[in-house]
Amino acid sequence: MCGIVGILGSKPVAIDLVDALRRLEYRGYDSAGIATVEKGKLDRRRAEGKLRNLETRLHEEPLKGHVGIGHTRWATHGRPTELNAHPHMSDRVSVVHNGIIENFRDLKQDLQAKGHKFTSDTDTEAVVHLITDGLQRGLKPIEATKEALSRLHGAFALAIIFAGEDDLMIGARQGSPLAIGHGKGEMYLGSDAIALAPFTDTITYLDEGDWCVLSRDTSVIFDKGNRRVDRPTIKSVASSLLVDKGNYRHFMAKEIHEQPEVISHTLGNYIDMAAGIVKMPALGIDLSEVNRVTISACGTAYYAGVVGKYWIEKYARLPVEIDIASEFRYREVPLQPGGLSVFVSQSGETADTLEALRYCKRNGQTIASIVNVRTSTIARESNTILPTLAGPEIGVASTKAFTSQLSVLACLALALGRARGTLSPETEQELVKALTELPRHISTLLHNETVYEELAHEISKARDVLYLGRGVSFPIAMEGALKLKEISYIHAEGYAAGELKHGPIALIDENVPVIVVAPEDELFDKTVSNMQEVAARGGQIILISDAPTERAGCRLLAHIKMPKAHALTNPLLYAVPIQLIAYHTAVFMGTDVDQPRNLAKSVTVE
Ligand code: F6R
Repeated sequence: MCGIVGILGSKPVAIDLVDALRRLEYRGYDSAGIATVEKGKLDRRRAEGKLRNLETRLHEEPLKGHVGIGHTRWATHGRPTELNAHPHMSDRVSVVHNGIIENFRDLKQDLQAKGHKFTSDTDTEAVVHLITDGLQRGLKPIEATKEALSRLHGAFALAIIFAGEDDLMIGARQGSPLAIGHGKGEMYLGSDAIALAPFTDTITYLDEGDWCVLSRDTSVIFDKGNRRVDRPTIKSVASSLLVDKGNYRHFMAKEIHEQPEVISHTLGNYIDMAAGIVKMPALGIDLSEVNRVTISACGTAYYAGVVGKYWIEKYARLPVEIDIASEFRYREVPLQPGGLSVFVSQSGETADTLEALRYCKRNGQTIASIVNVRTSTIARESNTILPTLAGPEIGVASTKAFTSQLSVLACLALALGRARGTLSPETEQELVKALTELPRHISTLLHNETVYEELAHEISKARDVLYLGRGVSFPIAMEGALKLKEISYIHAEGYAAGELKHGPIALIDENVPVIVVAPEDELFDKTVSNMQEVAARGGQIILISDAPTERAGCRLLAHIKMPKAHALTNPLLYAVPIQLIAYHTAVFMGTDVDQPRNLAKSVTVE
């Protein structure tokens, strides 16, 4: 993930900026840079590769400004070159950015037509020219930024400084985290408290949609509607921990809220945003010649794999076999040469998944693993790693790792489709666009959690909860049931909606909440029939859907209204409410959310 830092200091800030960036190295990066305001002028140094390259540049040509911003970049739009490294700037403004500006192509066209010259392939540069344009029209820096922010679509965090302004920095958060650090006569901005730990432990986290105007002595925060707001200031313990909870009660809540950012980041690794196409690393196999895909994993990672199966079959028209790793490894599956075996694992250490991998390797399959820990055993034993860039996941119940796994699997499905000629370039572009819009949709969903707090009262009374889904929503229903079981200890099962009447319907009465995952797609009406069967037996239905409530055709206990999104991205989007239902129910019941009983984060035994 890209890292952002900003300092309004009382002495030259370049060394401190690099120190802070060093503390963000754990997020991963491929270039870095800083910019400062010196004698009213903006200047910057940037370098490809590690921070020591930037330090060498700074040593050759120091920057002496007392106000500055810094950035470690994980390439999304444009290759990891010095030209694309942040900060981006004009003679009036300099910007560092984390996330995706979805409408950058439209903005770029408009701005180029007005004579603005772009020098990089990044989406960030559109922000620079947008603000510069306002300044050229006579707006003051705060007004120009406010106007520019209102035109940006996407999920992002920004830190901005201005020529001629030695006591001003502006930050904005929409989908990617940003924290203000309060010093004595100094002020800071950072992607997280860890970056700011050497300078201050007094931190204010911005909320979704917030933006802030900082000087050395003041910090003023505005919400999305540009109303002045107060956000709590907390004492951070980041100096002693590599990762902290921010101002969340639990790691699980923090990790749920990190999803817009980690999904952007993961997608950035597999999508060429400027061209609107997927770009997979070499898999050691010609994708056009793959004759069969085998996916194997455990638990939540297995459900990600099931979604992957639906996608690969639909978009690449390839047969996919999927199994739970503990079953697969003993099944003596016949495997023909020419197959691709995909293993999904957050930890990369799960014993059953590893053994399934070794079985496939012995049987001549090409091994690709989707892992969050690149140094893990599963990663080491694979032909290719497809990393998820979720960052450390501390909560035992997997959340952001799951949606990052789905992000990689979606890109893999599209890459297979393109290679096999089952996806036209136009369809690929449409699907890639849908993926890039996803972080914004998820951010919208995370704005209001009241509905989940209210539902928690009802669900906590239940002994059993059923989750129903059809098609690609079926694995999301199973994942929902697993999440609820794990952290609230309420018995829950996920079923294919059509399977209900073949047995589980016997369980339905007025004490059984039935959570239905049903985007308004071509299968929606079928699922409505199943809901009516539940309603007729007194079941309490909680519908998660983008359809109008009337289309349910029966009484609902609640309707969690979802934004309209592309069918491809619905599994990722609908994963969020099922995580929030489980989380708030567990919080209401007072269980140990981050470390539920009997569970371990990494299961290295059979
Ligand atoms: C559930 C959960 C587990 C893991 C499973 C596989 O929330 O986290 O079901 O998904 O133990 O673990 P990894 O992905 O590390 O192989």
